[in-house]
Amino acid sequence: MTNWQAWHEPYQDADSPLSRRLAVVRRHIVTWLDERPEPTLTVLSVCAGQGHDLLGVLVTRPDARRVRATLLESDPHNVEAAEAAVESAGLQHMSVVRVDAGDLASYVGSVPADLVLMAGVFGNISDADAHRTIRALPRLCAAGATVVWTRSRRAPDRTPTIRRWFEATGFVERAFDAPDDALFSVGVSRFEGVPEPLTAHGRLFTFLR
Ligand SMILES: C[S@@+](CC[C@H](N)C(=O)[O-])C[C@H]1O[C@@H](n2cnc3c(N)ncnc32)[C@H](O)[C@@H]1O
Repeated sequence: MTNWQAWHEPYQDADSPLSRRLAVVRRHIVTWLDERPEPTLTVLSVCAGQGHDLLGVLVTRPDARRVRATLLESDPHNVEAAEAAVESAGLQHMSVVRVDAGDLASYVGSVPADLVLMAGVFGNISDADAHRTIRALPRLCAAGATVVWTRSRRAPDRTPTIRRWFEATGFVERAFDAPDDALFSVGVSRFEGVPEPLTAHGRLFTFLR
């Protein structure tokens, strides 16, 4: 199985594809924050890892206290690293929860969210689970929520299918960044459908590696 703590090491190299992907995700989080004037916003990060995306943005934002965030992550080392980063940044409204994010019960109390981060999820689960997870997003999203997601385009490229699944679930694509010289892609989709109540039982996904 993957060592998910070691997986984060390429973030130390600013030129690595993972760091480039991170920069794109952060740019979309900044855009989302700039577009949302509300005094309180809810963010959910699914399989948050060490939280570099959201934390990296909030430490630069004077309006960080508008954000109530929950980071769901199962690896204890990554949870510890994210908690330490949250603490040192003084972000009081951010909690890191060690749970199985594949279990819908893990979302009780953290949704509906105005921003859902799904970075590094779809490439690690089956197509059937990715489809099921996208179809469940109306239960995690508030009206008008934005989902930022990533997926490698390594052959066979599944991103056309994923983008279709988002569209079929009531999302409108705001951006799809797919640089020519890298395999990663970052999608940004806005939920234009009607939010659904969270049914707090059932499985969304299981990591394959
Ligand atoms: C590819 S990494 C992405 C981390 C982070 N989102 C990022 O982009 O930097 C996937 C993360 O999902 C976590 N993970 C794997 N299975 C999980 C599960 N069932 N529930 C919660 N987190 C899980 C791993 O520990 C790992 O930190």
